[in-house]
Order: sequence, then C-alpha cells, then structure tokens
Amino acid sequence: MKNFLTKQYKSDKKFRIKHNYLKEQFKDYKKIFNKISKVVKFNDFTLGYEVEKFENNFKNLISSKHCTGVGSGTDAIYLALKSLNLNLGDEVITTPFTFYATINAIVQAGCVPKFVDAKNDFNINPDLIEKTITKKSKAILVVHWAGRICDMNKIKKIAKRNNLFLIEDACHAALAKYGNKFAGNFGDIGCFSLHPLKNLNVWGDGGMMVTNNLKLDKKLKLLRNHGLKNRDEIEIFGVNSRLDTIQAVVANHLLKKLSKITNSRIKNANYLDQNLKDIDEIYIPERDKNLKEVFHIYSIQVKNRDNLVKFLNINSIDAKKHYPIPMHLQTPLKKTYKYKLGDFPNAERLSKETLSLPVHEFLDLSQLRFMCNKIKEFYSK
Ligand SMILES: Cc1ncc(COP(=O)(O)O)c(C=O)c1O
Repeated sequence: MKNFLTKQYKSDKKFRIKHNYLKEQFKDYKKIFNKISKVVKFNDFTLGYEVEKFENNFKNLISSKHCTGVGSGTDAIYLALKSLNLNLGDEVITTPFTFYATINAIVQAGCVPKFVDAKNDFNINPDLIEKTITKKSKAILVVHWAGRICDMNKIKKIAKRNNLFLIEDACHAALAKYGNKFAGNFGDIGCFSLHPLKNLNVWGDGGMMVTNNLKLDKKLKLLRNHGLKNRDEIEIFGVNSRLDTIQAVVANHLLKKLSKITNSRIKNANYLDQNLKDIDEIYIPERDKNLKEVFHIYSIQVKNRDNLVKFLNINSIDAKKHYPIPMHLQTPLKKTYKYKLGDFPNAERLSKETLSLPVHEFLDLSQLRFMCNKIKEFYSK
C-alpha cells in the first residue's frame, strides 16, 4: 500500500488558505538546529536533559504534578490504560466521534471500546454514560474534541459514583481550561499529542501523560521505558515509547510560543463565530464563558457539507472534514463489535455535517474575511 500522506501534503500545499502552516511556523528552524547540535555533542539521545526539561516545563505550564514524555499521543492513551491494571476484555467507555487513535489505544490495551453518543458540541453526552456501564466497565475515556473540554463536572461524578477510572484524551486540548483548571487535570491521567498538526507540535511524533498521582506517575515512567527501574532490572513489563530527545528540543522551543499561538487561534475563531453565526445553514456550538477552547480545529456544523467543502476547495480554501466516518462505523469496529448504522445517531449526523476551517495564527484578516464571504456566497446561490 502506498503512503497516502505524501500525496495529501502535496495537494494541501496548493491551497492559498492552508490548514497546514508548518513552514511559516518553523521559519526559525536554524535556532532549533543549533540546540539539536548540543544533543549530538553531549551524546544525550535517549531520555536526555531536554526530555526532562520539557516534562518539567509542560507540567508547570498546566499546573500538573507529574509529566511523562512518550512516543506519541496514541501511546500516551495506551500506556495510561495499561497503568490501570485492567483485565483483558474490560470495557472502556468513550465517544464514537473521535480520531482512530483513541479507539486503537483501547484495543491495543486489551480492552473493549463501549461507545456513548456525542452531544451537539462534539463531545461525549454525559447523560447517556450511566446507561452504558456494565460490570465490565473500568474506565471512562473522554475526548476534549477540538480543544473544548467535556462536561467534566458531571463526568467526574459519574466516574466516582461507579468506581471508574477517568482518562482524558487531551490530544486537542493543550492549554484548554474549564474555570481555573487546565485539561489533563480532571481525571486520573491526561494524554497529549505533539503531532505536527497539533497546537503544540514537533517535527515528527511525540506525546505526554500528566497525572497528579505519584504512584501512577512512577508506573507510567516505568511503562514507557521497558519497565526498567535501573539499567539491569525490569520491575514490570513495558514498551519502548520514549519521547525522542530531538523532538523534546523542538517541543521546548515551541512551548514558549504556545500561549501566543493559542490566543491567535482563539481570536481567529471569534472572528469566524461572529461572521458565520447568522447564516441559517450553520450551527456553531454555544461558547461557554467558563470554557477556554483552544481550537486545535475550528469545527462547525453545516448543511450541504460535502458540496460546501468542494466549493471552498475550488476557491483555494483548505476546508476539511474531521471526520466523515464515526468510529463505530469503521470496518474493524463493525466486524469485531457488531456496531451498525443508527447506533449513535448524533455522531453519525456530526460526521455528515462537520466542516473545519483553517484557524491558525498565520491567517490574516483578509483571509478570514474571504472564507466567510465564500461561505455566504455558497448559501446565497
Ligand atoms: C483525538 C485524538 N486522540 C489521539 C490522537 C493521537 O495522537 P498522535 O497522532 O500523537 O498519536 C489524535 C491525533 O491526531 C487525536 O486527534
């Protein structure tokens, strides 16, 4: 099978208003090269100084007690689940409106994904969670979609009442807040991604887990490094999923800019909200004043979505569908768990109506205006 990503990146480059802005973002790459040369000079390649520095920087930034860098956001979720001593076949409650990684991590950990439908704001519907709990349920894995924190007050109470672990897939949600609390701190473990398209990103793959529980932190640090407690002895079975030191250099460099990046995304999202909210064919989730949404993607729900995407693409705007098929309708889930069309109607509707627009910090006002005008033009035809 061919690597479809190369082709996709090439075709994304053709758009005038891009979703992917990495070239602009890393214009100062020579400064990063300089820092990387020190890693080489000091032979500090695995779990080096820069990894520890990044773990400390990130946990301080989001007021968590502990942070562990790993190979990807997917591994962060997988290892978080592994740290909970779950048994083969235990059920993990999650949403069908997510990226494949959430589900793959559950399955890789030997567990069964049990879906609960999404709300109109893209996140899991807490009012439907308790109906799904069985004797085999062991954890709730929420996804803070697009950088909007789930209804954690309700979900925390449900987890406590039913003695379930609570894991946050915060891969979209670095710096997102509910009240004074940052994403990652609501449950037992928060999982983050450093994928190149995330708000805090590196030059390949990377991720991290945060927790405020020392015992869990010790386990997570063992799990990501073969279970090694010292050079010669393993304490538990583990994997090799260390955050690469070179990626940690990039992450440390970017971390200083994350607040600025986030604020421009919020500002751009505000502009889009204000200029699209009066179009009858568009639904924008209500913005809750207690929430700081960080807009990893700017997603809205629109009528006639597929034709609108085509129209915007023809007009050189990289509008995307995140994502057109909900998880329960992906082939392996239908085959293995017998999920079928109609099981989660709201997630199915969202998959048909979701449109994402570029929202990154390099957009200027004329580009934002152009996107809104083109959408208005489409619906006025
Ligand atoms: C919701 C969600 N969870 C998990 C991940 C996995 O992150 P990574 O690509 O770093 O493995 C992603 C990645 O895009 C994601 O969107």
